[in-house]
Amino acid sequence: MRVIIRKTYEEISLAAANLVKARIKKKPELILGLATGSTPVKLYQELIRMYQEEKLRFVFVKSFNLDEYYGLSSDHPQSYRCFMNTRFFDHIDIDKANTHIPDGRTKDPEEFSAWYEEQIRGMGGIDLQLLGIGSDGHIGFNEPGSSFSSRTRLVALDAQTVSDNARFFERKEDVPLSAITMGIGTILEAKELILLASGESKAEVVAAAIEGPLSSMIPASALQLHPRVTLFLDETAASALTRKRYYHFAEESEQNLGRELF
Ligand code: F6R
Repeated sequence: MRVIIRKTYEEISLAAANLVKARIKKKPELILGLATGSTPVKLYQELIRMYQEEKLRFVFVKSFNLDEYYGLSSDHPQSYRCFMNTRFFDHIDIDKANTHIPDGRTKDPEEFSAWYEEQIRGMGGIDLQLLGIGSDGHIGFNEPGSSFSSRTRLVALDAQTVSDNARFFERKEDVPLSAITMGIGTILEAKELILLASGESKAEVVAAAIEGPLSSMIPASALQLHPRVTLFLDETAASALTRKRYYHFAEESEQNLGRELF
């Protein structure tokens, strides 16, 4: 696991955007896994800026989002489809036909989930998956207790997640209680993972995920099993880590060895 710590949210967003840019430059037809929530907002803004100012192109990129609320139609303002269109896709040259987000209105979640997995597999798998982390340790909407080998499926949201996400809805009662999410097993099959975390409210769970034992009670600890993970943390999100000095040292050593960070 590579742990990159920067002072601010803006700095980690730029660093992560640079990594995404490097991967798209290397492989223009990248299969990109995407996340929603507040954390990646600035990263998407940076990628839009790179599209506008640095000729970064998304025409050949195909994307798969991690999750979608169950019960919300794609035009609902709080749906993740709407989030992705307004925050990112509408501002770049990606072909919307190449963007995939679980269908929150499917009548048959099981059949849909199998189809979603098939689409990912059919395109050769996800090259780079972007992740955030919930305050209960979830990745995607894989709540504590999710199996490390879980696949895309309909899940019930934890009360903590419903309360965390109430800020996006007019009333807490409006927050959907379930979602379709890629499983932890699905996420671990991506060739590379990046996770961003910002703010003090994530500090304890970030430390548990990186430095604690593997446990389904902290779904993000599953990242320890993946061979190619980079975590981008701002100082507050990194504040409960015990090995910060080592992470800085490891980053410096890579640079001294002339290895490109991204
Ligand atoms: C969203 C997702 C979630 C979020 C997590 C953190 O697609 O998969 O796991 O990444 O809930 O959300 P924020 O960034 O709002 O703190």
